[in-house]
Amino acid sequence: MEQRELLRGQSAPRTSLPGPATTEVYRSFFIAGIVCVLTAGCTLGAIAMLGIALKGSYIADVWTPYVLAHANSQLYGWVGFFVIGFGLQQHAPRIDRLRAFHVLARWSLVLMAIGIALRFAAEPLVKSEPAVWMPAGVLSCILQFVAVVLFVTNTQVTRHRTGAPLGWEGRFVLASLGWMLVVAAAEPFFFALAHQPDPTKGIMFVAEYFGPYRDAQFLGFVALMIFGVSLTKMRELFGARPAYKDLAITSLVVWNLGLIGRMIGWVSYFQNGMIADADRLYRTGGMLLAAAGLLFVLALRIFEPVTEVQASTKFVRAAFAWLLAVGALLILEPLHLRLTGQPFSHPYTGGIRHALTVGFISQMILGVGMRFVHRFHGLPEKAHGLVWAAFLLVNLGNAVRVALEIATDYSSAAFLPMGVTGFIELTGLGLWAWVVAKPLLSRRRDDRQSALVYQETVA
Ligand code: HEM
Repeated sequence: MEQRELLRGQSAPRTSLPGPATTEVYRSFFIAGIVCVLTAGCTLGAIAMLGIALKGSYIADVWTPYVLAHANSQLYGWVGFFVIGFGLQQHAPRIDRLRAFHVLARWSLVLMAIGIALRFAAEPLVKSEPAVWMPAGVLSCILQFVAVVLFVTNTQVTRHRTGAPLGWEGRFVLASLGWMLVVAAAEPFFFALAHQPDPTKGIMFVAEYFGPYRDAQFLGFVALMIFGVSLTKMRELFGARPAYKDLAITSLVVWNLGLIGRMIGWVSYFQNGMIADADRLYRTGGMLLAAAGLLFVLALRIFEPVTEVQASTKFVRAAFAWLLAVGALLILEPLHLRLTGQPFSHPYTGGIRHALTVGFISQMILGVGMRFVHRFHGLPEKAHGLVWAAFLLVNLGNAVRVALEIATDYSSAAFLPMGVTGFIELTGLGLWAWVVAKPLLSRRRDDRQSALVYQETVA
């Protein structure tokens, strides 16, 4: 396989540097991501959701470890594998470093997979057998961190370079990689401190620091990566109009300010006993994030006409509509808290989180992943019923979930119907995986796409 790739690469036009090799490294990462989301990710999430609904409480002890295992699998498995696979695929390695590229890629995949599986076991078992599962849980986080470091190292060390300066869109990706390294490095400490021998201390740690930690993961690492990829790929994949640079750069600055403000603001609000007015920085951070999301959507121009309307285009547009919905929810949060008389709402935060993680993040994976694999293998995207069914189930399931989760703050009657929404989303994801499996497992490769990848890397 590697030899075949080497030969392909050698036929490329000459440059003063060793040329880029072609690769299909993305495939195993995408498959791993899909396996993750359909097992430890969304299936576990849907079961936990049903359990919470039947119990009528989000703090049901029995489900907490599974929710934490679910969050980890989704971040490093579903999202992480797609980010790593797509990132490595887009930055072709130099011919003379192809072997090192594959070795590093393989280790990233294996260490990440072992880390996710070990964490999945450690979360529920650490309470009953801390002597075994505390070190195992910390080790799982270290393995995930090493996988991330190997990925970042791979893109720097083996990558074919042309000497051309980094495009302005690359700033989003660099910011995302910075957040990715920080959150992965923090993971062992968060695992250890969330499972301290004194359970009250663990609970207090989670209450104080998990909000900012989740924000850094999903609004820092993941959202910024999606923004950066969108700026470079929406034109190529969907024929979108060129993005507005100044508006996009402004959104990058405002987004990071908002994120940091929200993270510091939460800790300060918490330490001040969650009294009224202590939440100003936290709320301002939310408002800035909402404003930055809107600026980014305007800059990207994804809702303007595109030259290639594909079956996958609707996922991408719906994803950005969800990003705007996240902004609206952030702005409305103080009103919701005033109406329900609470200093903080778990269901409202969970609603925002899944508007972001399912509506925006996962749907970007669905849209871009589907478009990419069809194009890569030179296969047409058929706008058949299955794609529409997947699209409707994911969006409907998530919209009802977000609405009902927030509604549980007003009436406990919302719990039960909320319990089935996870399975609706899961069915949608399963249909999407079925549609994507054919091109993903195809051995055919479109040579025009090889040429395109080549042009991109040398341009
Ligand atoms: C079928 C789709 C999904 C279902 C049914 C589901 C279910 C759940 C449930 C029941 C909870 C606990 C209650 C709450 O906080 O709302 C939860 C928490 C969470 N989920 Fe999901 N989820 C899904 C998709 C995702 C995705 C795609 C991601 C990330 C990419 C994600 C990340 C998280 C995170 C970070 C938490 C918070 C964990 C914590 O308490 O710290 N979920 N999910």
